[in-house]
Amino acid sequence: MAVVASRQEEGKAASLEALTALVEDDLKKVNQTIVDRMHSPVALIPELAGHIIAAGGKRLRPMLTLAAAQLCGIQNDRHVRLAACVEFIHTATLLHDDVVDESDLRRGLASANAVWGNKASVLVGDFLFSRSFELMVEDGSLEVLAILSRASSIIAEGEVLQLITTNDTSTTEEAYLEVIRSKTAELFAAAARIGAVVAGRPAEEEAALEAYGRNLGVAFQLVDDVLDYSAKQAELGKTVGDDFREGKITLPVILAFARGTEEERSFWRRCLETLDQNEDDLARAMELMTRHDSLNDSLARAREYGDEARNALSIFPDSAIRRAMIDIVDFCIERAY
Ligand code: IPE
Ligand code: IPE
Ligand code: MG
Ligand code: MG
Repeated sequence: MAVVASRQEEGKAASLEALTALVEDDLKKVNQTIVDRMHSPVALIPELAGHIIAAGGKRLRPMLTLAAAQLCGIQNDRHVRLAACVEFIHTATLLHDDVVDESDLRRGLASANAVWGNKASVLVGDFLFSRSFELMVEDGSLEVLAILSRASSIIAEGEVLQLITTNDTSTTEEAYLEVIRSKTAELFAAAARIGAVVAGRPAEEEAALEAYGRNLGVAFQLVDDVLDYSAKQAELGKTVGDDFREGKITLPVILAFARGTEEERSFWRRCLETLDQNEDDLARAMELMTRHDSLNDSLARAREYGDEARNALSIFPDSAIRRAMIDIVDFCIERAY
């Protein structure tokens, strides 16, 4: 068992490593741009932003921009600044999301809201959003501006939509999918698509990269919602069980609820609608999810989206970067963090 687990660990690392190696030089420049551009004479801004940025993160979305640009044979450097811009948007949404979700742990450290409070987190999130728009304007492409500004509005819509479905056990699978397409997949789609835009590639390639990003993003969030129940907290770097404590209606819950007995449904309603929870309830929730296979079936769904993501790349000729982009689909599905 231990051998299998460690093999899987190796597999996971390998599935991200190929891409990391291929975009390494650009990613260093992206990280430098992020550090240079989070600065402000208002000391709390770089202090708070620096905390979450230095804590790491997978840099998956900027890597998508870099990879897509490379796949499209980019001949200039525009993708670097835009990848930084994508990570700024992501970081801003994380700062806001942790306030909304009342999360205390992010990237293995105390979340910014836990350290500096909600007000500072919301305001610095606004700063990072605005800074990302400055970076877009510096790039000067109205097309990129259109794609990323639209993605930003849709992410916000997704978070608001999620607020409405929270504590509502009648939320349908379709409503849930709409939430995750908006709050997560839209930025993945935009990040990949702008790689083709800055490389000046035809609409067909833009559309393929957008479909790749979108499907990968849905798979990524499905897995995130499974990990919220099944992960090891130390590996995940976020608090396991947050979604349950908050009453978030994710696919694992929707499936377990739909497949449950009347008694089980009243358990879910008590825990998720009225948030009347006791110590053993999370364990019971996990037991019901195992009984009804709802975590496994959510992962199976993620794999289907992963397949779609891979298929979307089929219009591009075989290359190391295309293979690496295919590999990160596995990383996103098998990840533990
Ligand atoms: C967290 O995204 C937010 C979700 C969409 C689930 P990541 O898991 O990519 O966060 P970092 O950047 O690696 O910390
Ligand atoms: C992702 O949703 C949030 C955004 C895309 C802004 P979650 O709330 O599941 O993300 P985590 O689990 O806090 O990272
Ligand atoms: Mg959250
Ligand atoms: Mg989550």
